Amino acid sequence: MRTSRLLAAATLGVAIASSAPAADTAEAAARLALDTGKPGPAINRNIHGHFTEHLGRCIYEGIWVGEDSPIPNTRGIRSDVVAALKKIDAPQVRWPGGCFADEYHWRDGIGPRASRPAMINTHWGGVVENNHFGTHEFLDFCEQVGTEPYICLNVGSGTVQEAMEWVEYMTSDADSPMANLRRRNGRDKPWKVPYLAIGNESWGCGGNMTPQFYADNYRRYNTFVKNYDRANPISRIACGANGENYDWTDVLMKNGGRMNGLALHYYTLPTGSWRGSKGSATQFGEDQYFSTLRNTWKMEELITKHSAIMDKYDAQKRVGLVVDEWGIWTDVEPGTNPGFLYQQNTLRDAILAAINLHIFHAHADRVTMANIAQMINVLQAMILTDKEKILLTPTYHVFEMFKVHQGATSLPCQLTTPDYVFGGNKIPAVSVSASRDAAGRIHLSFSNADPKRGIRVEGKLTGVGARAVSGRVLTAPAMNTHNTFAAPDSVKPATFNGASLAGDTLTVALPAMSVVVLEF
Ligand code: AHR
Repeated sequence: MRTSRLLAAATLGVAIASSAPAADTAEAAARLALDTGKPGPAINRNIHGHFTEHLGRCIYEGIWVGEDSPIPNTRGIRSDVVAALKKIDAPQVRWPGGCFADEYHWRDGIGPRASRPAMINTHWGGVVENNHFGTHEFLDFCEQVGTEPYICLNVGSGTVQEAMEWVEYMTSDADSPMANLRRRNGRDKPWKVPYLAIGNESWGCGGNMTPQFYADNYRRYNTFVKNYDRANPISRIACGANGENYDWTDVLMKNGGRMNGLALHYYTLPTGSWRGSKGSATQFGEDQYFSTLRNTWKMEELITKHSAIMDKYDAQKRVGLVVDEWGIWTDVEPGTNPGFLYQQNTLRDAILAAINLHIFHAHADRVTMANIAQMINVLQAMILTDKEKILLTPTYHVFEMFKVHQGATSLPCQLTTPDYVFGGNKIPAVSVSASRDAAGRIHLSFSNADPKRGIRVEGKLTGVGARAVSGRVLTAPAMNTHNTFAAPDSVKPATFNGASLAGDTLTVALPAMSVVVLEF
């Protein structure tokens, strides 16, 4: 096998060398070297984070059904969704947007629901938002799920005073005007709000600002975000670049002042274009399967280049790169409201999720948070609902299988992978992550994007000292296999018996189009 192309230049993570196209045999081979003696940084558990926006049926129907609903709920929040989310150990959830955040006025979403003023959700279908799901409901949802809130402040159409008072309302325990207003609304003790975003996509729907104008506004807003709870200071995340806008990152790092994180948004489009069709979520052939996965590998380049700019100003890596919107964006399901961004989710999406999580893990020295868009009924969702029914998507299953990496120490590995070649183009067939958790267990996760060939991985494990390996696999007969309300288990994890150990040699038979997690 020829190793010719270094795709992932991760210094601390996974080095991937991609070989020349192999003959189209039934099984190709990859090589892996894992040395536990040279651990990398911890994989911040926030990398496995989520995003909920007042968009389509994400909040209403997906989370909030109201206290009088026949759908089982606790204080209006649906119980089946909470139970499913607990199983993936969602570390943090971003809210209330997205573009919605820069038109959201938090005071409209507190107090008796019947008297909350309504507003038009101008970005998402022009529907009337009744504000029944507000600060108390979101923070109750977080407490029920056991996750941390990541709240996005309104910079675009709000005021500094409004933002400052929201922070006081949520986090102050003083005998103060906002804390007392919160108490009158039924919540005595303040909540912990560990993460705040200062605006969303301020270069676009958040105000069409230039990077310098936003940098100045970031500094101004940041000044008035106070740490009322001194023991738990708030991490502040500045609005970051849209994909390849490297100038935005440069200006913010140079002029943005103090920040804990700088965001980055990148969506994978199957056709690669925002104009015309983005591609169907379920009706696609190998051409769009391939282009989707090729487009998703762009994330590696984006993180490498934005990180290099951040390194110039922050060699100590104090500022995290926060990929707080990512995932596949397809055409909506036929017959649904185009403004609701409701799309199905296939085995292709599961492989895409695994590749992106592997990329984030490989850059764990800089990437501290990420938020897949979005949690329920919108874009690359974990869960789809239809009235009282819910289903778990293939992407959900990847998040559940990969939760073993959350907070674990990354273990750099060298991977030589065959290419997956289509139409004269190629991407790495295999991606990988390895980590050691607090209990000393080592986990290896793989994705094999090749839809036609299984791949045999020969691994040399140094320092693992394992006598046994077990595993789980996610795969399906077709690249567009998906779960439906009639058949909700078409794609779900199964026991994997394709890995064996002989001393320090590991052999893994990765099925075509699969995600595998091994435990030693
Ligand atoms: O996730 C959907 C939208 O995509 C968000 O509201 C916005 O931030 C981005 O453009």
